[in-house]
Amino acid sequence: MTTLIINIKELLQVEDSPKKMVSGKEMKILPVVNDAFILIENDIIINFGEMKDLSNLIADKIIDASGRIVLPAWCDSHTHIVYAGNREQEFVDRINGLTYEEIANNGGGILNSAKLLQTTSEEELYKQSAVRIEEVMKLGTGAVEIKSGYGLTLDAELKMLRVIKKLNKNYPITIKATFLGAHALPFEFKNNKNDYLDVVINDILPIVAKENLAEFIDIFCETGYFSVEDTERLLNAGSNYGLIPKIHVNQFNAIGGVQAGIKYKAVSVDHLEEMRDEDINALKNSNTMPVALPSCSFFLSIPYTPARKMIDAGLPLALATDYNPGSTPSGNMNFVVSTACIKMKMTPEEAINAATINGAYAMGLEKTHGSICKGKKANLIITEQIPSYNFIPYSFGNNKIYQVLIEGKII
Ligand code: NIG
Ligand code: FE
Repeated sequence: MTTLIINIKELLQVEDSPKKMVSGKEMKILPVVNDAFILIENDIIINFGEMKDLSNLIADKIIDASGRIVLPAWCDSHTHIVYAGNREQEFVDRINGLTYEEIANNGGGILNSAKLLQTTSEEELYKQSAVRIEEVMKLGTGAVEIKSGYGLTLDAELKMLRVIKKLNKNYPITIKATFLGAHALPFEFKNNKNDYLDVVINDILPIVAKENLAEFIDIFCETGYFSVEDTERLLNAGSNYGLIPKIHVNQFNAIGGVQAGIKYKAVSVDHLEEMRDEDINALKNSNTMPVALPSCSFFLSIPYTPARKMIDAGLPLALATDYNPGSTPSGNMNFVVSTACIKMKMTPEEAINAATINGAYAMGLEKTHGSICKGKKANLIITEQIPSYNFIPYSFGNNKIYQVLIEGKII
């Protein structure tokens, strides 16, 4: 099955040979072909170029993209899409003056979601999560990372990871799984944090690894949750099973989680709303991708990741949604890209790089996703007829998407 997209006004993020990621000044460069075509065979991009170089107009399916922009589908490297129910009451509580931390300390927050998930059947959890997967695919996401961490017991964590595995099997979107057993301290371990970490490390982790249920390991390294010492202990245990760290750090407090992540060769360190100079310096000369989650900052009214300072210091940056019921009940990468431009002063080129190739890197998918390159997955966004690619972030909240192709199929 071949698909040929013709008369593309601007084909974005093209490359001849796959690069790993872009950082610093390079992030301002977004390679574009004007008046372009792209040829797909089954799920793979096999050719692209200028219309004038297209020798024959033969394919099983031809899509005329006159006036439209085509770009690689978004790579959302940080989500918690598998959860049960919602937490809109906490949203109202915050409007009425409570903080995210106060809600968590009163037994709400992550523990609230865990309580509900523990009593939700695997089938029902799958059903609720599948709705969100379908929603984000329509919003242009072609690859996504999903974390456990709303189970917090052996059974419930495994249930979440099995749901993630099943979603990956049943949908064309590429899904990477992360084990986040150390997301919060269950109520019954309130005064025994080490006992809970023993459960995570000795009881859950070996089964997650044996059943191949996750590729990455995560922990919420934050004051009131897990310390840097806890983080090092967990990442060390994870490394014995070949799990790669991808961790929550510096959301509310900078306590050294960035350095711990780098030490254990994290593929990414995520959140980074609070960044000290020493955290930025530590990331230089590392292979760890910093990941910003601007719709979390928007929803909680907390600071935005200092993207300008980080990119100007030469760092790469990826953008992701953090889709979860507490801090970011939205999986809209189009909104993330707009918010990064509006609130973090990233240029459209930087934001698109951050949401495609750098997002792919943050999931270990840079060889197959995140750019228009021969041999890569045919995961594409075809926009509405818009004047230029700057219009994508400019028209915030409007999602100027005409069609999404994932693995060559129209969604
Ligand atoms: O990434 N910060 C930790 N975890 C999630 C929020 C979890 C929740 O509130 O349910 C986050 O923001
Ligand atoms: Fe998160």
